[in-house]
Amino acid sequence: MTTPLGRADVFCRRFGLRLPILLAPMAGASAPSLSIAVANAGGLGSCGALLLSPAEIKAWVDEVRASSNGAFQLNLWIPEPAPPRRDVAQEARVRDFLGSWGPAVPAEAGDVTPPDFGAQCQALLEAAPPIVSSVMGLFPPEFVAGIKARGIVWFANISTVAEARAAAAAGADVVVAQGMEAGGHRGCFDAANAEAQMVGLFSLLPAVVDAVRIPVVATGGIADARGVAAALLLGASAVQIGTGFLRSPEAGLSPAWADELGTTAPEETRISRVFSGRAGRSIATDYVRAATAPDAPRPAPYPVQRALTAPLRAAGQKAGDAQRMQVWAGQSAAMAQAKPAAEIVREVWDGTRALLV
Ligand SMILES: Cc1cc2nc3c(=O)[nH]c(=O)nc-3n(C[C@H](O)[C@H](O)[C@H](O)COP(=O)(O)O)c2cc1C
Repeated sequence: MTTPLGRADVFCRRFGLRLPILLAPMAGASAPSLSIAVANAGGLGSCGALLLSPAEIKAWVDEVRASSNGAFQLNLWIPEPAPPRRDVAQEARVRDFLGSWGPAVPAEAGDVTPPDFGAQCQALLEAAPPIVSSVMGLFPPEFVAGIKARGIVWFANISTVAEARAAAAAGADVVVAQGMEAGGHRGCFDAANAEAQMVGLFSLLPAVVDAVRIPVVATGGIADARGVAAALLLGASAVQIGTGFLRSPEAGLSPAWADELGTTAPEETRISRVFSGRAGRSIATDYVRAATAPDAPRPAPYPVQRALTAPLRAAGQKAGDAQRMQVWAGQSAAMAQAKPAAEIVREVWDGTRALLV
C-alpha cells in the first residue's frame, strides 16, 4: 500500500516539484513574485488568468520564467454557457443600494464584455506552461487536444464527486478537489447550484479519491502542516494553498485586506454573490452582512454584479477600508502568516513530514 509521503513523492516527480505544495490560482491576486517564491522553494507557481489579456498572460509567464525554472500553472475560468439575463429594474435596485455604500453607480455600469476566452486559450497554448487548469467547468475538447499535443498537463478544479468523474472522463490528468472552506469563488460547474452543493474537504476528498483513478490535489482551508498531513492521509497527492499565502510580502496585497485575514475566525467568513454575482467566500464585512440581509436587493448575475460593485470596491481600496473592499478569504484565514512565501512553504512541509514519518 502506498504511504501518504510515497504518493506525494510520485506526484512531485511526475510534475517536476520538490515538494507537494501548490500555490492556488487567484485571479487578481497572482503576483508573479509570489509564484517565483513558491516555485523556487520547490512548490508550484500559479496564475489566475481570468482577468488577463493575452499580452498580460505572456508578460506574466516571461516574468516568472526570468526568475525561476520551477513549474507553474496557468488557470482560466470556463465561461458561462449563456450571456447573463439582464433585469433593468433589479439592477437599478442594486445600483441604489451600492450607492448608499460608495460612489453612485452609473446606469451603464453593468454593460460589460467578458474576457475573450478563445484568445486567452490561444495565449495559453503559445505560452506552453507545464500545466493549465480549469475552473467553473471543463475545457472544450479542441483545447484539450491542443494541450495534449504540446505535452501540457490539465489540472481540473472540481467541488463534487460528479464533477470529478466528469473531469476524469474528459481527459483531465489531475483533479483539484475544492472544499467549501475555500476562499474566493466556488468552482462549481453549475453556478446556480453553488450554495446547494457545499461539501467540506473532509468528506469531499476521500470520496473523490475513491471515485477517480487520477491523482487528487486537496484545496480549501489548508494553511499549516496539520492540514497538509490530514489531506495526504485522506488520499491527496498534493495540496493547493490560497489564502494561506496572501499575507506574504510577495503577494502584494493591500495592507487592509492582509491585516483582516490575520484576525478572521472561520465563522467570520461567508459565501455570497454580493461582489460578482457568483458564489464566493470572503470575510463577512459590514458590506457583505448588509448586502446579504433579507431586505437587501438580490445581486445581479455574473459578471454584471462584478461590474456594478467596481466603484464601491475601488473606493474601499483607495480609502484602505476593508469593510467596503472585496476581501476574499478561506475559513482558515487566521492561519495565514505574514512571512516570506518560501518560509511558509518550508515550515509547512517540514512540519508535515514530522507529522507523517
Ligand atoms: C483571492 C482569490 C482569488 C481566487 N481566484 C481563483 C481563480 O481565478 N481560479 C481558480 O481556479 N480559483 C480561484 N480561487 C480559489 C483558489 O484557487 C483555491 O481554491 C482556494 O484559495 C483554496 O482555499 P484557501 O483559500 O482556503 O486556501 C481564488 C481564491 C482566492 C482567495
